[in-house]
Amino acid sequence: MTTLSDRNILILGGTADARKLAVALAGKGTNVTLSLAGVTLSPRDQGVPTRVGGFGGADGLAVHLHEQRIELLIDATHPYATTISRNAEIAAAKSNTPILALRRAPWRPEAGDMWYEAGDLKAALAIIGSEPKRLFVALGRKEIAPLATAPQHLYLIRSVDPVDAALLPPKHETILDRGPFALDGERQLLQNHRIDAVVCKNSGGTAAYAKLRAARALGLPVHMLNRPPLPDVPQGSDVETVIRMACEYLQT
Ligand SMILES: NC(=O)c1ccc[n+]([C@@H]2O[C@H](COP(=O)([O-])OP(=O)(O)OC[C@H]3O[C@@H](n4cnc5c(N)ncnc54)[C@H](OP(=O)(O)O)[C@@H]3O)[C@@H](O)[C@H]2O)c1
Repeated sequence: MTTLSDRNILILGGTADARKLAVALAGKGTNVTLSLAGVTLSPRDQGVPTRVGGFGGADGLAVHLHEQRIELLIDATHPYATTISRNAEIAAAKSNTPILALRRAPWRPEAGDMWYEAGDLKAALAIIGSEPKRLFVALGRKEIAPLATAPQHLYLIRSVDPVDAALLPPKHETILDRGPFALDGERQLLQNHRIDAVVCKNSGGTAAYAKLRAARALGLPVHMLNRPPLPDVPQGSDVETVIRMACEYLQT
């Protein structure tokens, strides 16, 4: 049986779970590299060897897997990062590299929640309607362009990095912040800005969940953008499960 310390793992990251997974697998003696897209201007220290930037599509990733002698690829990207997840599945097949995914379970509405599910931001804006509202938007800075198609609303936009001014709707306020967020802070934010509804993605996990608890406490509707379909590769929904699966792969 080969020991874990002989094995090269590439983790596609950009999430808190990917960082935790990478640190835990490195702690077991594996040669882990964490890969980031390079979209966040000042990413957190990841605590493990990190590479930054795209691979050049599925073909580029397949070449990387081959050249770096990667023995296990783990897709731990965000559930809305569909391109890289598809590329990972294709590249793993092309290079004959085993693949696992860490896919956080989606949040489910609880008693007291008032969720409206939508296929995308345009569909959510159609549901919100023509009457001017004050909307809290927790989306990535590159996803907000459709807000300009509903200029009647005031948007409070929170993102990790500054939003490109050309994408901003006419009435907006911006906040730069990065989770994890706590219930009290989220409730105050919604109250102070007299927010009528929340618009967000169904990211799952705990770091971004407090806004949903705050909306529930204040009786505010949430416009939830549905998750896109992702490749059906062997997967776990939490860090511990994926560590177990990775160890099983590497020890056989
Ligand atoms: N989408 C979200 O809501 C969201 C939220 C939080 C964090 N993130 C993180 O932000 C990153 C980008 O998200 P996205 O939605 O823009 O991705 P995407 O649309 O699926 O990917 C766009 C391109 O970015 C590169 N890329 C993405 N993730 C990468 C990674 N981990 N390592 C190296 N290259 C990567 C790939 O370029 P090449 O084709 O050149 O290889 C990919 O084709 C991801 O790592 C994701 O985990 C995304």
